Amino acid sequence: MNIGIIGSGGREHSLCFKLKESKLVKKIFCFPGNAGTETIAENINLDITDFEKIHKTCEQKKIELVIVGPEKPLVDGIVEYFKNTKIKIFGPDKISSQLEGSKTFTKKLCKKYKIPTSNFEIFNEEELALNYLSSIQYPIVVKADGLAAGKGVYICKNLDDAKKAVKEIFGGRFGKADCVLIEEFLNGEEMSYFIISDGETHKFFQTAQDHKRVGENDTGKNTGGMGAYSPSRLYTNDLDKKINEKIIQPTLNGIKELGSNYSGFLYIGLMIVKNEPYLIEFNVRMGDPECQTILPILDTDLAEIILACCNKKLQDIDIKWKNKKSVCIVLCSNGYPESYKKNIIINGLKNLKIDRDEYIFHAGTAIKDDKYLAIGGRVLNIIVTTENFKNSKDKAIKILNDLDWKGGFFRKDIAYKVT
Ligand code: AMP
Ligand code: GLY
Repeated sequence: MNIGIIGSGGREHSLCFKLKESKLVKKIFCFPGNAGTETIAENINLDITDFEKIHKTCEQKKIELVIVGPEKPLVDGIVEYFKNTKIKIFGPDKISSQLEGSKTFTKKLCKKYKIPTSNFEIFNEEELALNYLSSIQYPIVVKADGLAAGKGVYICKNLDDAKKAVKEIFGGRFGKADCVLIEEFLNGEEMSYFIISDGETHKFFQTAQDHKRVGENDTGKNTGGMGAYSPSRLYTNDLDKKINEKIIQPTLNGIKELGSNYSGFLYIGLMIVKNEPYLIEFNVRMGDPECQTILPILDTDLAEIILACCNKKLQDIDIKWKNKKSVCIVLCSNGYPESYKKNIIINGLKNLKIDRDEYIFHAGTAIKDDKYLAIGGRVLNIIVTTENFKNSKDKAIKILNDLDWKGGFFRKDIAYKVT
């Protein structure tokens, strides 16, 4: 069958690469893709908020299944749009997508179903929020409600930081704000936990730990993700059981009561405090760079898994994982996450030699006159899987040193807690 993938990042290149391995897949189209997907699929440059255009293109190209990478089209209802057509779509509907689209929706769901999460208050008025800030202990976390591309979260050490955050949010920094969320700061270690669901059955889809800060030792500005490792060092059967019983099952039940059935990938962002899981956030998609880190250790046909989900047959699939440790290091443009230059040639990328169990997934790249160009903040993802994290990391760093791209930088300490 022909498949369409929506998105243009490292996540989408890794999905494309993994689907390409399947005997079920004839041709892949990426909307719009990047220079990496262009080598294994056909890129089609269109506006991914234009569902009608996507649908028409799918008909023309005889695409039978669409996989949605990023959250925005899901939150905007692309699944509902395709439900009235003959083309299958993989991802959650609008009701389910509120798990990522609205932090207050998720917090209210947590309260109703007693899902462990940080204590919180929601304020609809700036003045009430500011008054409340004077009555609490610090640190705290202030969050904007809607999608903010990872930027609407402020960790506030004191009253001044918190006031600034509340004012910025109500001032419209992340779009019109009807409310603000003020929550308790959780002190623990983060873990990203993934499931895949067909609306009736859900299955484990690995764990990972990403590094969001731009600087070594997890310091500096937040980014989309500078690297990750999988599996998470915190994962145990005991913790898995708690996550399922206390967080996943009640969430899926809650969604069902709202008239939806969660279908797609679900990313459960957790803080583990004294071996107890607390929900920080849900994302209604795979993580980026977690997806690139996890897919190379998947040992089952991804197209088969996703098709089974679309046909509500996930129950029949045994999802297998390789016994390998995966490390992903992200190569970024100099200046990221602030301003950076675009259209910088990535010399040496074309002739870069990699071995089996080593992967290069593109993010912000384009190809012009037969040359690779960096056009985004996060440019390449280098992934290596071996029998231990140290080897994987050392090999990934060697690839980056071989490439020796002067236009960019990467964190040399990814996976430091396990190497
Ligand atoms: P979010 O967009 O909600 O995932 O938040 C971004 C990051 O902020 C998370 O990955 C955490 O590192 C941090 N964070 C968010 N909420 C909390 C919290 N309640 N306690 C501690 N850290 C948090
Ligand atoms: N790696 C974090 C995210 O995908 O949101």
